[in-house]
Order: sequence, then structure tokens, then C-alpha cells
Amino acid sequence: MSQSGQPAQRGQAAQYVDQYVVIGNPIAHSKSPAIHARFASQTRQSMRYERLLAPIDGFAATVDNFRLAGGKGANITVPFKLEAFALATQLTARARLAGAVNTLKFDGQQIFGDNTDGVGLVRDIVNNAGVSLQHKRILLLGAGGAARGVLLPLLSEQPAELVIANRTLLRAQQLVALAREHGSGEVMLSASGWSQLSGKFDVIINATSASLQDEVPPVAASLFDHSTLAYDMMYGASMTAFLRFAHAQGAQLRDGLGMLVEQAAESFVLWRAVRPETSAVLAELRQQLDTQ
Ligand code: ATR
Repeated sequence: MSQSGQPAQRGQAAQYVDQYVVIGNPIAHSKSPAIHARFASQTRQSMRYERLLAPIDGFAATVDNFRLAGGKGANITVPFKLEAFALATQLTARARLAGAVNTLKFDGQQIFGDNTDGVGLVRDIVNNAGVSLQHKRILLLGAGGAARGVLLPLLSEQPAELVIANRTLLRAQQLVALAREHGSGEVMLSASGWSQLSGKFDVIINATSASLQDEVPPVAASLFDHSTLAYDMMYGASMTAFLRFAHAQGAQLRDGLGMLVEQAAESFVLWRAVRPETSAVLAELRQQLDTQ
């Protein structure tokens, strides 16, 4: 027996369970522990995943303490994704273009940084919604961190055209220039204000934070038709203003809950080298949201 009265063996075994956390401020609302617990039991991985609140001015110290105590990896959420980017000693190309990191993996002194948000979005659209992006005309609304975070994985799907539209045109232009620097391949890439947009789009992705104020980017109804997939990267118990607007135009609708689950699955693959099955987890989260 140990001093705590627990069998010593149990305490020792716990040391060998790999530890992961999601770090943010605030963090109490995070669904990531529930998602990763399901992934772990499904794939029989011996691991623990918890929430870790970092002080606003203490992100790097929080990561260091966790890492030096033997932590294996972390998801990073608001407002620390830029600091996580700065902390990483090695970065993936998609994290470099995103300028932000949502996944850290610790290996000795190395801090490996990745951004799985974009690939999560793409997997949700392509695999879960069954909509290929190849040769399609895509409109990305917004040019902030959320838009930048998904840019490279979207381009990697080789759409015919990607238009980035934003309230502040200059930010959209800067994002286009950045994407070109990283290599945008054959994709026709352009920046636009709201009013210059024309023609139908196959996929329209809302990466603005307008939904937080229950607002819609003021885009024309004529950009949508019944075959357009309107995707809001945000999700909630009720439809966002953008999805309500797209619904009125007869478009197909999808919110960001699937992206949340898929970005988590990508982090899990990076840490555990095994791919979890996401559909049951997504269905369960959807049900929880609907009954809230
Ligand atoms: P995030 O990390 O969520 O992307 P951000 O970097 O502050 O946050 O970017 C917010 C994005 O939403 C920007 O594209 C912003 O447009 P501006 O660049 O012009 O600020 C956009 N946005 C925020 N509120 C909006 C609104 N009410 N209507 C349209 N766009 C809005």
C-alpha cells in the first residue's frame, strides 16, 4: 500500500498511461475530452485526456510544466493558437501557412506543432457530407485566423477556383498573397469584397465570426442555388444566421460540429498513429446539442 492507502501498483500503472490535455482560457466548455475519451476506448488506446486552464499570461509555462511532467501532447484552443505556433520547434506546412497551431506533440526536447483545423474541415465536407472539392468553385468568407487556418488543406483539394471575400478587402488580399507564396498550384485564387462577387458557387464556407453577433456577411442570394453546400465553421443548438440565410436560398447546409470532431480525429492520428471512427461520435454530439 502507498501512503494514500491506494495499492502502490495502481499508482505506478497510472504513470504509464499517456497524458494529453486541451489548453485554453476559458476551457470548461471544451468538448475535446469527451471526444478523445470515445476515440481512446474505441481504438483501445491507454491514454488520459483532460482540460487544462492556462492563465492568459502563462501559456508557455503551462505547456512546459505539463511537458516536463511527461505529457505527450496537447490540443490548443482560444486564445493560445498563435503562442503555440511560436513555441513549436518543428512545424508542418499547413501550420506555417495557418500561422497558428492547434496540436502539439512532445518528443524529448522537440515540440512538434500542427494545425488540424483545415484538414478537419475538408474531411467533414468530403467524407461526411460526401461533397468533393476537386474542380469546384469555392467561396471562403472571412480573412481572419479561422480562414487562414483552413487555407492550405482547401487548396490541396485542387478546386478550380477559390475566392476569399472579406469585409476588409485588404485582409483578403493579404491572405491571397500568403497562399500564393506557399504555392497555390493550379487553383484560380482571388480576393474580393462582398459586392463584387458573382456567379454560383459550389461551396460557400463562412469563416467569419459574424455568427457570434447573429449576423450574416452581406453576400448576394444569387451566389447560392439548391446544389450549393453552405458551411458554417461555427455550430450551436440553433442554426446560425448564415445557415438560415443559405436555407432561404434552398442551399444544402452544414455546421462546424463535424469539423470539430474531424480535427480532433486528426490530432488523435498524429499522437497515436491509429485513426478513430468519427461518425458515431459526431452523431452522439449532435444528439446532445439537439437536446440542450
Ligand atoms: P477568427 O480567429 O475567428 O477568424 P478574427 O481573426 O478576428 O477571428 O477574424 C474575424 C473575421 O470575421 C474577419 O474576417 C472579420 O472581418 P474583418 O477582417 O473585416 O474584421 C470577420 N467578421 C467579423 N464580424 C463580422 C461581421 N459582422 N460581418 C462580416 N464579417 C465579420
